[in-house]
Amino acid sequence: MANVAVVGTGYVGSVTAVCLSWLGHEVVGFDTNPARADQLAAGELPLYEPGLQEKLDEAIETGRLRFTADAADAAREADVIFLCVGTPTGLGGMPDMSQVQSAAHGVAPYLKPGAVVVNKSTVPVGSGNWVRTIIEEAQPTGDGPPFHVVSNPEFLREGAALEDFLFPDRIVLGGEEGGEGVQIVASLYERVLSQDFPGGDPSVKPGLVLTDLPSAEMVKYAANAFLATKISFANEIANICELVGADARQVLPAIGADSRIGPKFLQHGIGWGGSCFGKDVQALIATGLDYGYGSQILRATVEVNQSQRAAVIRKLQAELKTIKGRRIAVLGLAFKPGTDDRRDAPALEIIRRLHTAGAVVSAYDPIVKDVPELEDVPVRIASNAYDAADRADAVVVATEWDEFAFIDLAKLAEHMKGTLLLDGRGVISESDADVAGLKVTGFGW
Ligand code: UGA
Repeated sequence: MANVAVVGTGYVGSVTAVCLSWLGHEVVGFDTNPARADQLAAGELPLYEPGLQEKLDEAIETGRLRFTADAADAAREADVIFLCVGTPTGLGGMPDMSQVQSAAHGVAPYLKPGAVVVNKSTVPVGSGNWVRTIIEEAQPTGDGPPFHVVSNPEFLREGAALEDFLFPDRIVLGGEEGGEGVQIVASLYERVLSQDFPGGDPSVKPGLVLTDLPSAEMVKYAANAFLATKISFANEIANICELVGADARQVLPAIGADSRIGPKFLQHGIGWGGSCFGKDVQALIATGLDYGYGSQILRATVEVNQSQRAAVIRKLQAELKTIKGRRIAVLGLAFKPGTDDRRDAPALEIIRRLHTAGAVVSAYDPIVKDVPELEDVPVRIASNAYDAADRADAVVVATEWDEFAFIDLAKLAEHMKGTLLLDGRGVISESDADVAGLKVTGFGW
């Protein structure tokens, strides 16, 4: 078992720290914000992720996980240092790398000989070399101890992060020539690779993909860009289905049944959101442009996604004729179920657009109770879906929470003034809604 430091205790960092410690490693989570480090040390998670709280409590109890705001304390003993800091969109669509820079700079003076610095943050191609240079430049005499740089992109989905960490399809490690750093990191994941942990499934072992540094960095962007494109493709097909009288609910599963295509990420509707797809697709477009390549598919992926959100207003207008003065309830605020994350959530943009069009908007989400991002929009946050629908002319399902798939449609209808239910996520049964006296409008049919 190894000594591990995890720099940055946001979403990826806290999942990585908790899971590696749960697998038996000695882990220290480092955050420059002492309040955040204290909060985590006290067992308080700053975010919601199913199952993470229980594993955090367990890990702290074993004594194998601790948190610090002192870089020296974090890095001095570490065999492997994971950089898990944010890379939000910066100028021109490229990621803002300032946090990676200060993370690398912060640990540089304390590296022990042979330590491995792992880039887990989503960083543009070339960042591995860049991190090496930052560390070399920051070492006191310029001839510090030898160290390795490895790229280990993460593929965690919010809401399913523990599952994705412990049962990944593959682990990708990109290394420098010689590959020693990659071997050290691979051994850190040994129990995941062999599925040798309580609840592990040795019959489905994840693949270990070894690449060079730039290729591993590219894998992350290519994977997210492909998934976003697959959803936008499904939405484009759904839009054409609507025009020609075909039903995307039948068409898309039928194409997904082809093993070359696969059924996942073909769920059509109001499109993708979240902190990753938009940011990473933009970054890939910007990277291409840096080298004189204008991406056509990626730009279309973004355009189709934007038009899905606008389509909500168009569809409501088509049914209600006027939006001004209408009461519209939006069900779901998080960008997807299983999380309280609202970054680039389609629901928030839809609420803004509805407000601009003159609607009186209410909203409900099973987990999100407070939406500071909508401070300037007078939206009533209701305590349940029925309350949100009170006297509403229309209800829009914006997030596919189970609670909405199993909603009591008769009760919903009783609360509403109108009868229109716009199903942006394909979770409402048309025939059930019919029985309840509601008219469902969806996407793709
Ligand atoms: C995504 C990737 O799936 C992860 O592999 C990756 O690690 C992560 O980004 C990241 O880069 O950190 P995440 O953003 O958590 O994960 O969410 P997804 O489950 O991929 O969903 C993204 C959006 O697509 C959601 O708004 C979801 O509602 C939407 N979606 C998903 C669809 O509209 N249709 C689908 O068929 C699937």
